Amino acid sequence: MAKKVLLATEKAFAKTARDEVVGILNQAGYEAVLLENYKDKAQLIAAVADADALIIRSDVVDKEVLAAAKSLKLVVRAGAGYDNIDCAAAKERGVAAKNTPGQNSNAVAELALGLMVFMARNRFNGKSGTELRGKRLGIHGIGAVGRLVAGIGKGFGMTVKAFDPFLNPEQIKDAGAEPVATLQDLYSGSDYLSLHVPANKDTKKSIGFALLNLMPRGACLVNTARAEVIDEAGLLEALEKRPDLRYASDVEPSAATAEAIQAKYAERAYWTPKKIGAQTEEANVNAGLAAARQIVAFFERGEKRFIVNP
Ligand code: 3PG
Repeated sequence: MAKKVLLATEKAFAKTARDEVVGILNQAGYEAVLLENYKDKAQLIAAVADADALIIRSDVVDKEVLAAAKSLKLVVRAGAGYDNIDCAAAKERGVAAKNTPGQNSNAVAELALGLMVFMARNRFNGKSGTELRGKRLGIHGIGAVGRLVAGIGKGFGMTVKAFDPFLNPEQIKDAGAEPVATLQDLYSGSDYLSLHVPANKDTKKSIGFALLNLMPRGACLVNTARAEVIDEAGLLEALEKRPDLRYASDVEPSAATAEAIQAKYAERAYWTPKKIGAQTEEANVNAGLAAARQIVAFFERGEKRFIVNP
């Protein structure tokens, strides 16, 4: 019987990307099933029941979804961050989890700089703003996205520094930024701070008042990483005590924090209505096709590359 691959995307890919994903799977003799723009986890649970493989974006694959997925062997996160997959639970059930690192990075990097321009120009409200040229750009986490941000930032004429706990100073230089010794140094010396860290037990709620309060006058934190890495109480405290600080993101804070920000600090904070960093046709094609090819390689050749729950 043909293998069944479910493409479950709460936030659908561009049509070109989706059609090409289906093409690759069909060519391999697999059946492709689409669950796009779904509203309810129950729909995913029903659709995944007989799938051999699953392609997702930020769609949550938790214990409940895995328990319903009786035939599942592989879940591929078409994207970088896999904090939406319960990797341990998947492993317990013999389900491999993979990601497609780097495939959507350019889209996220371009948006990060776009958000900086948007904030520098007073959210396009027509009032006189400022420029990025000559400003200090700090990059927290210089992986695939961070290094692209460094390059684009230099193109804008910014000076670029970075901190990454997993890289030594030479590696940070190779990634295109001046290394700084501590995270505190990075925050205190950045007019624009671009966040590019994954959400995990070490990073969740790690950016709070202490770091934000170190930032220079008028600084802006740009978060195209994850909402969870922000300590929202600390962000609110910083916006309250530092009327010069600004925050821009493509990931929505919790409803309560969003409401508090809208009520008091709306002019200094902005987030896009949906997580749009990787939402370009090019990124969708790159990540989607990489995911489809990984599935074929996994079933046909036992390819283990990109497994994140070994
Ligand atoms: C990622 O981790 O790849 C990005 O955050 C993009 O997520 P998305 O596929 O949900 O847009």
